[in-house]
Amino acid sequence: MQFQLRQRGRSSIDFAASLSATAAKLRPHVDAAVAALELPEDLAARLDHVDTALRAHPARWFQVRLMNWASQHHGQITSDAFDEIADDLDSEFERLARGATQIETRPGFQPPSYWDGVAFHRTTGGWTREHQGFIHGELIHPLYVARNFPGGIFKQRRAVLGELGERDYLRILELGTSSGHFTVALAEHYPNAEITGVEPSVPMLEQAQRFANDRGWRWRLIQGIAEETGLPDESFDLVTSYILLHELPVAATRRVFTEAFRLLESGGTLFMSDVRPFRDMDALAQWRQADLARRTGEPYWCDAASLDLAALATEVGFEAASSYGVGSANYPWVTVAAKP
Ligand SMILES: C[S@@+](CC[C@H](N)C(=O)[O-])C[C@H]1O[C@@H](n2cnc3c(N)ncnc32)[C@H](O)[C@@H]1O
Repeated sequence: MQFQLRQRGRSSIDFAASLSATAAKLRPHVDAAVAALELPEDLAARLDHVDTALRAHPARWFQVRLMNWASQHHGQITSDAFDEIADDLDSEFERLARGATQIETRPGFQPPSYWDGVAFHRTTGGWTREHQGFIHGELIHPLYVARNFPGGIFKQRRAVLGELGERDYLRILELGTSSGHFTVALAEHYPNAEITGVEPSVPMLEQAQRFANDRGWRWRLIQGIAEETGLPDESFDLVTSYILLHELPVAATRRVFTEAFRLLESGGTLFMSDVRPFRDMDALAQWRQADLARRTGEPYWCDAASLDLAALATEVGFEAASSYGVGSANYPWVTVAAKP
């Protein structure tokens, strides 16, 4: 999609991304200081212990302030950058709302109760803010997250599909479609597939719709939750998600796996990509991850990272379940299982 940010908005986003990059450069110094401490076994106690022990450590002092500032302000900065160009985008939004991909809204739909009082990713206005799909999909992801995220956030979404082998999936359900970045990867990888996306937020689906209509694709985009999609039994050969599960409480993830089992045909595949579990990390990496999660608006991350998703898949009836990290950083962490 073609658009041009105003100088103020562009440079403000650049500034926030640069602060994150500077915080990342301090990491080796902070890690060395943390590694020199005797770390408690319990993760919450470990976070407290490091906070106290490194309160006056210069690199840590700066790192915390840079991380907090970027995390607390990037949502408002990108939101303001959007507001500056909103009028320019009207005709493009109208054009891309037309096409084969349309959104099915659910009258009276309520977002999940575990969203109450939570600003995921500290995103200004939450997932349901008007135009959050554009703000997240065209500004936050490419201009803020991608600049500092190791491995390339778009490259990872495409590469992970290589884990599914040669099978040509034809009826794909993506849970947590958001602004459509993984959906694009699915459509490119499986050009013969009918693609359905379920997502609670209509503003997020609007951006997914723009990506699809811009390319002349027909996706079915449905407002709903992954735990209870309302879709017919055994109607898909692949049920998948990318970076959804760490945003759900454990009880919701259980329901999602049960729902995926119901929705898959016999021989269908469950394929979830998410965060690396704590059991694959040493004490320092666990601390680093939990520290990041608490600063960046991720209330369910630590519980999600404590789950064994292959065991959960087996529990709900899947077979041949496996979970492992992709690439040298073991990220994303994929869970693959088959419905008997
Ligand atoms: C981190 S984003 C997912 C990223 C997306 N799959 C991608 O590849 O860019 C999380 C998305 O999951 C959605 N979400 C949160 N809870 C959900 C649920 N219970 N069911 C379906 N989607 C959910 C949010 O609205 C948000 O758009």
